Amino acid sequence: NGAEDENAKPKYTVAFEATFAPFEFRDEKTGEFTGFDIELIKAIGEVEGFDVELKEMGFQGIVAAVKTGNIDIGCSGITIKEDRLKEVDFSIPYYQAGLGIVVRANETRINGVEDLKGKRIAVQIGTTGADFARTIEGATVIDFDQVTDALMEVKNGGADALVNDYPVNLYYVNKSPKDYKMVGGILESEYYGIAVRKGNTELLEKINSGLMKLKENGEYARLYKKWIGV
Ligand code: ARG
Repeated sequence: NGAEDENAKPKYTVAFEATFAPFEFRDEKTGEFTGFDIELIKAIGEVEGFDVELKEMGFQGIVAAVKTGNIDIGCSGITIKEDRLKEVDFSIPYYQAGLGIVVRANETRINGVEDLKGKRIAVQIGTTGADFARTIEGATVIDFDQVTDALMEVKNGGADALVNDYPVNLYYVNKSPKDYKMVGGILESEYYGIAVRKGNTELLEKINSGLMKLKENGEYARLYKKWIGV
């Protein structure tokens, strides 16, 4: 009986931080969380027979929440990297990203990464962009909980630049080209993965199998085109 099967579906909590368009953000019209990651994890649930419960939280807390089991799944543009692999397990990579620089539209001094030396750099706390900014000689790094607030700090002159994931920068710069521009291209290559608690192979296998099914049936390509472009 179909209804019984419906009720038997497991429900997993999914954590993300929602100032990260086009991957996860709040739709201004509907007030709902949406974006590539949100639709991707829902689609994985559909093909693998589980429901998801969305939980927004600060980015910095996501890996820890997955590690302790407070949250089942971290799906938030999370870069697969060494120190995080010690805390959680990651799915197969589902997106290739990289870092980029955003400056004010009228900025003339900063044209690439070498011009960031000694500058004030806004970042989202706990991100690979924050780590990268801290390797720049003489720079003052200013941490923000939200990417949108970090961008605002650049706009109002409190910071000279934002270092953050390239595709996300592209989205926000395209939204306000009179305020911002991108400089310096892609700084380093990164891959996003979906995080689960270490040793939770049952869930990890569902996620990997779901990702593969969505790649085969064209749904991954559809979502990619819808949210990120060709
Ligand atoms: N990819 C970067 C990292 O893993 C930034 C991710 C931020 N994600 C977000 N939803 N705010 O550190």
